[in-house]
Amino acid sequence: MDSQLIESFTHHHRALDDTFAEARSAAEDGDFARASQALQAFREALERHMGAEETWLFPAYEAQHGPDNAMTAILRKGHRDLRGFFEEIAEALAQAEGEEAVALMGTVGQILQHHDEKEEQEFYPAVAPLLKDAGPAIKALEA
Ligand SMILES: [Fe+2]
Ligand SMILES: [Fe+2]
Repeated sequence: MDSQLIESFTHHHRALDDTFAEARSAAEDGDFARASQALQAFREALERHMGAEETWLFPAYEAQHGPDNAMTAILRKGHRDLRGFFEEIAEALAQAEGEEAVALMGTVGQILQHHDEKEEQEFYPAVAPLLKDAGPAIKALEA
């Protein structure tokens, strides 16, 4: 079950990457309607993903390592930053501010990539053995 959790969340990162790339290329083409639509789909899937981490994964890690551990503190801050950035991008697209949207997407793409790497390389392998039942967390990723 440990490896299933790691695989499911890692696979979901890649699915999110694809949807984000779609929004980004639409914004680069100046197609703001398509970019907004793709970004909305991305944000909904990202909320499911971060929600699953916040509901099941972070608490399991914090129960073992304490609420003030550096790992979940960094990852929780990452989620706050990402939510803020994607809100800004949605606003820029809604106002047809293409250049700003594309610039923000470049920045946030890097932040997202670093966040995902830390989870895949350090956090998921550490938290997987701590979860009694990974089923609900994996199920929560599905639409
Ligand atoms: Fe995360
Ligand atoms: Fe994640």
